[in-house]
Amino acid sequence: MTIQALLPFFRVILALHVISVLLWMAGMLALPWLYVEHAGMSACDPEDMRFQGMERRLMKLAVNPTMFAAWSFGILLVLTPGAVSWSAGWWWTKLISVFLMSGYHGALSRWRRDFRDGRNVRTRNFYRAAAGVPIVLMIIIVIMVVMQPF
Ligand code: HEM
Repeated sequence: MTIQALLPFFRVILALHVISVLLWMAGMLALPWLYVEHAGMSACDPEDMRFQGMERRLMKLAVNPTMFAAWSFGILLVLTPGAVSWSAGWWWTKLISVFLMSGYHGALSRWRRDFRDGRNVRTRNFYRAAAGVPIVLMIIIVIMVVMQPF
């Protein structure tokens, strides 16, 4: 199902999609590094509350709204005639990677709540490794959508 009326706006929707994706990625790349620093602190550390505040603001004011925008403009693109071919391998690889990226977003949110509730048991090295996940997914997504290799 596509909406013909979206066609004249394809370029502006695409631009808004790429802008919101860039902002979403910026927050998703920064947040795990706050968790790396936070994981080394004890719950009675005065810095703990400051980090909780930074993580909450980054999540609520940046990462959540920009994910919503990236999905909204992405779905408008899907509904634009000719933007997507459902038989193309690149599109399915991108879509699966985007769902994994959204799953990672959910994990960041869960980890933030664990810090908030004093329940974090993950190490700094765990969060260092986790910080690489959105980079790998972003590389796959951009190669798929720009080069459309298969
Ligand atoms: C969140 C769900 C997403 C949906 C539903 C979605 C959907 C789409 C669609 C339909 C297009 C137009 C494809 C075309 O040019 O024909 C597009 C373009 C694009 N998407 Fe997404 N996308 C999503 C997330 C992402 C993410 C997470 C990234 C990067 C990390 C991304 C990067 C891009 C780029 C760079 C383009 C422009 C490609 C070009 O003009 O050559 N998208 N997206």
